[in-house]
Amino acid sequence: MKTTLSFSTPAELETESLVAIALDHAEKDPAGSTKKEKPQLKLATGDAAVQSVAADLLASGELTGKPFESNLLHKPAGLRAKRLLLIGGGSAKKFTGYDLRRLAGAAVRIVKSRGIRSFAFIVPPGIPVEEAVRAIVEGALVGNFDPDYYRSDRKDQKIDALTIVASGNADHAALEKAAQEAQVIGESQNFTRDLVNEPSNRMTPTILADRAKKMSQEVGLKCEVYGADKIKELKMGAFWSVAQGSDEPPALIVMTYEPAGAPAKPVLGLVGKGITFDTGGISIKPADGMEKMKYDMAGGATMIGAMRAIALLKPKVKVIGIVCATENMPSGKAQKPGDVQIAMSGKSIEIINTDAEGRLVLADGLFYARQLGCTHLVDAATLTGAVVVALGYTNVGVFANDDAIYERLHKANDEAGEKMWRLPLDDEYKDNIKSSIADIVNSGGRWGGAINAAMFLKEFVEDTPWIHLDIAGTAWMEDQKPWIAKGPSGVALRSLVEFVKSFKT
Ligand code: BES
Ligand code: MN
Ligand code: ZN
Repeated sequence: MKTTLSFSTPAELETESLVAIALDHAEKDPAGSTKKEKPQLKLATGDAAVQSVAADLLASGELTGKPFESNLLHKPAGLRAKRLLLIGGGSAKKFTGYDLRRLAGAAVRIVKSRGIRSFAFIVPPGIPVEEAVRAIVEGALVGNFDPDYYRSDRKDQKIDALTIVASGNADHAALEKAAQEAQVIGESQNFTRDLVNEPSNRMTPTILADRAKKMSQEVGLKCEVYGADKIKELKMGAFWSVAQGSDEPPALIVMTYEPAGAPAKPVLGLVGKGITFDTGGISIKPADGMEKMKYDMAGGATMIGAMRAIALLKPKVKVIGIVCATENMPSGKAQKPGDVQIAMSGKSIEIINTDAEGRLVLADGLFYARQLGCTHLVDAATLTGAVVVALGYTNVGVFANDDAIYERLHKANDEAGEKMWRLPLDDEYKDNIKSSIADIVNSGGRWGGAINAAMFLKEFVEDTPWIHLDIAGTAWMEDQKPWIAKGPSGVALRSLVEFVKSFKT
């Protein structure tokens, strides 16, 4: 999708479709009354000609004003556009960049399903214009993705060109930069979604590593891929304990971004869980829904996509991306409940559940990142079903061993328009991972399961400032939404890129 900024008046713009947001200016609950006021819809544009085309419809009382309510008018009088799409944005008072991102995605999905290939989106006033441009570009790219490659009746309806109509006396150069950056981020998010969407027979650890290598070559990253020999040589006993059970060779993917002029510190480490299929191993999962475990490499794919964006945006900070990729399979070579494994850090782990494999590969990935000199760590992983119980499909679970790094991430995810919620890591939870025969067990049981998993990881990061993102509930859309297709979401990538950018000098 090509993105162009336009500074002409919306009415003057020649386009297949102009898109304008309708906001509700009604006071929802007038003081002292239980009655809701009727919606009072106004278009979020200063263009009188566009407002006048929509005036009758908005005043008709036929519209609810709810988010994503849409109406398409053909041959709008007084406009050069062929169509005018009105899309509801909900309450004007509550309208933010978060909502705008989704509306842009929804506009793409409405327009492309009609076979239209290009349109122009009017930047609404009320949100700082740079932020708005960024939200529109990122949201539109998210909406443009559909994961239906393997269907013979695939429609392949993509928007080819988006024009963003920013009137007023905005700083053109700053807006161009915002749009370009957003384009890189949105495309990287879709790159991640492509990786996650592939089924496990088409996305083995080897293939994932090949995709990381190819991407790295394209954007000028250093990328090394190591196999079983190196994993054993590094004494990654926790990673290998999972990998040993599969006939597919594992891959330790290490991508390095080191721009000229970057300070020696900080060095950021982005570590991803890359389980290309999680059967549970000998502690095998029930058959029902197991097909979804192809997305258990989403954390790894997020880090590969984030490294792509970082290499293209070029912040002045060193970043190392590490993905521990393997299948988790039951076999004659697979580890068994009760086995004791020695992690790279030297800690002994009693494996009481082979389905708690993500924390095993990450334990060595995180420790290795520290050995490579990382001063700050972030991991992303579809780590626990328990985080879905705790936070549902809406918020990423965030854990941090350091308040300053948490605040930095929180600010980043706010700017990136993603929802994340912090969960605790109190010392009390450590009791849950005590073992009677080893240093720790790999499963702390059902209660507080997402926390127990994070407590396990904490043992391997020790005092390095660290963020753990549990994306099990958010990396896959269970249903399609107006702004996004069903399937891989690419969640956390935008926040990670923003987080990395916040370190640049
Ligand atoms: N990959 C799963 C977690 C998961 C669950 C991801 C649902 C996406 C959706 C992980 O490896 C796992 O199996 N976790 C176990 C841990 C338990 C055995 C301690 C879980 O959550 O049940
Ligand atoms: Mn598992
Ligand atoms: Zn898993």
